[in-house]
Amino acid sequence: MKGKVILVTGASGGLGVYVTQAFLDAGATVIGASRRVQQGDFDNPNFTALAAEISSREGAKTLVDQVVARSGRLDVLAHTVGGFSGGQSIVETDDATFQRMLDLNLNCVFHMLRAAVPALRNTGDGRIIAIGSRAALEPGTGVGAYSASKAAMVSLIRTVALENKDAGLTANVILPGTMDTPANRKAIPNADVSKWVQPSSVAELLVWLAGEAGKDVNGAVIPVYGKDA
Ligand SMILES: NC(=O)c1ccc[n+]([C@@H]2O[C@H](COP(=O)([O-])OP(=O)(O)OC[C@H]3O[C@@H](n4cnc5c(N)ncnc54)[C@H](OP(=O)(O)O)[C@@H]3O)[C@@H](O)[C@H]2O)c1
Repeated sequence: MKGKVILVTGASGGLGVYVTQAFLDAGATVIGASRRVQQGDFDNPNFTALAAEISSREGAKTLVDQVVARSGRLDVLAHTVGGFSGGQSIVETDDATFQRMLDLNLNCVFHMLRAAVPALRNTGDGRIIAIGSRAALEPGTGVGAYSASKAAMVSLIRTVALENKDAGLTANVILPGTMDTPANRKAIPNADVSKWVQPSSVAELLVWLAGEAGKDVNGAVIPVYGKDA
């Protein structure tokens, strides 16, 4: 990964910290973005924190413009921004919740793709790896808004994969099951965490997809369900 410029969105999140660290460990130059990310979050000279709000077209474009201005290129977009809401049936789901799921899980991806694809095409070997969810393929009761937003983002990524293969650009989406993050441990205190997916495993998969061996994988929708598979 030496010489590669990686943009990790959601770098301060439960998964994002692992993804950022894994790319840094692989020797890449990593720009970590989120609304509240701090330069001190990672003690590595190859890390740059960029505060960004990517739920608008302008916010996503500003972020990508800053990356290209600083680093001269963008090789990999590792998009981890997303969020969960559950507990309401479709009939009970209020407008604000539905809109929040679409904004976080779908619109943020859309804005990032529009902003980043031109720069990624320029490298001739660009990579997009996005984080969906098992719920994208397997709806469950009480998670309709989340599932729908993740299913739609899978469709966007697969479309981008088709539209940009002429430029050597690949786009893939990873679908984790429940991950062993601090937030999940707090929210579900009595769970059997041994069944959960380790964020470090997901992070290693991102690095593999971004590397030389990953170049032949395009448009893939990759389940990572842990022991609950
Ligand atoms: N946790 C799980 O068990 C699980 C399971 C399946 C799939 N997933 C998916 O995996 C991904 C990561 O999950 P996670 O648990 O790591 O989530 P998380 O801890 O909530 O992290 C989300 C990250 O996104 C950033 N963010 C949120 N809104 C943003 C915005 N508008 N602009 C810029 N940054 C924004 C947050 O940072 P700021 O607050 O600083 O902006 C944070 O860094 C998500 O897509 C999630 O849906 C998670």
